[in-house]
Amino acid sequence: MTDRLTIRRPDDWHLHFRDGAVMREVVPYTARQFARAIVMPNLTPPVTTTVLGAAYRDRILAAVPEGVSFTPLMTCYLTDSTDADDLARGAAEGVFTAAKMYPANATTNSAAGVSNIENLYPVLARMEAEDIVLCIHGEVTDHNVDVFDREKEFIERHLRAIVASFPKLRVVFEHITTSDAVDFVMEAGPQVAATITPQHLHINRNAMLVGGIQPHNYCLPVAKRETHRLALRAAATGGSGKFFLGTDSAPHLRSAKESACGCAGIFGAPTALESYVTVFDEEGALDRFEGFASLHGPAFYKLPVNEDKVTLERAEFPVPPVLHVTGEEIVPWHGGQTLEWKFLG
Ligand code: DOR
Ligand code: ZN
Repeated sequence: MTDRLTIRRPDDWHLHFRDGAVMREVVPYTARQFARAIVMPNLTPPVTTTVLGAAYRDRILAAVPEGVSFTPLMTCYLTDSTDADDLARGAAEGVFTAAKMYPANATTNSAAGVSNIENLYPVLARMEAEDIVLCIHGEVTDHNVDVFDREKEFIERHLRAIVASFPKLRVVFEHITTSDAVDFVMEAGPQVAATITPQHLHINRNAMLVGGIQPHNYCLPVAKRETHRLALRAAATGGSGKFFLGTDSAPHLRSAKESACGCAGIFGAPTALESYVTVFDEEGALDRFEGFASLHGPAFYKLPVNEDKVTLERAEFPVPPVLHVTGEEIVPWHGGQTLEWKFLG
């Protein structure tokens, strides 16, 4: 039995840091485990320009603890009025690593997202020409579509057309939750990849709805049926370079989650690697963990792999039921549970 696992330091290819005091307190959780992270731009107001992206990057860097090396990789929030020249300049200057497409009103702080995806095609053409990665929140927002079908429907209504229209555009289908998404990514060319969160590997929709509403298991896209969870586990642990780690860590105060209209988002950063490695262990795939966590993402993003290493040990890790951020409570992913793996650093 493997009791210690040492791998190249991983990166988190999708997360939310927020801004201000909350950001300053959550960045250290990520910087402790990861060398880099793709930072989502859904602030209020969103990060829509190079100037805003550079300023946000500098605020994050100022929050990295002394002696810790961590690089935020910034994303540009695409809107109906994105300036493709500014985006191209931001990418060329190294401010933006990718651009993020939220269908308008698909999730938290996405009201300024894209209202008609076809109208964005000139920007996508420019991104393809400049080789800028497109990160997609893949859910339709049509009220006639059941919330559990919104990802599958997005593939049929939009994603197939985007991928066919821009065959060289690198696309990350973010936080996939269905076997339909796994199949789509597997069948697409090497320019299409996906991130998978820890929660979608651990829970199905029962965890949200059985025994009372469980707001701390609610995120978007919502967890689906067990068959989908199993497909995601097979994809993550199967060794394909098309799938890589992206926690979608999305801190919300406990009071905002435990409310009549609870926010979507799970704060995964404090337990990220322990949570993922548990899945790889359960699947007998510890030898594939480094690929998913540390190699596939850099290869897709055309970035070097990290040189330093981290070690995880098979040992009890009691996860605190709550953490304090800006003096307020936030419930972390696995809060109150005891995991069987511990991050040593
Ligand atoms: O659950 C989610 N929370 N999904 C998202 O897409 C956004 C995120 C957030 O920003 O809270
Ligand atoms: Zn997200």
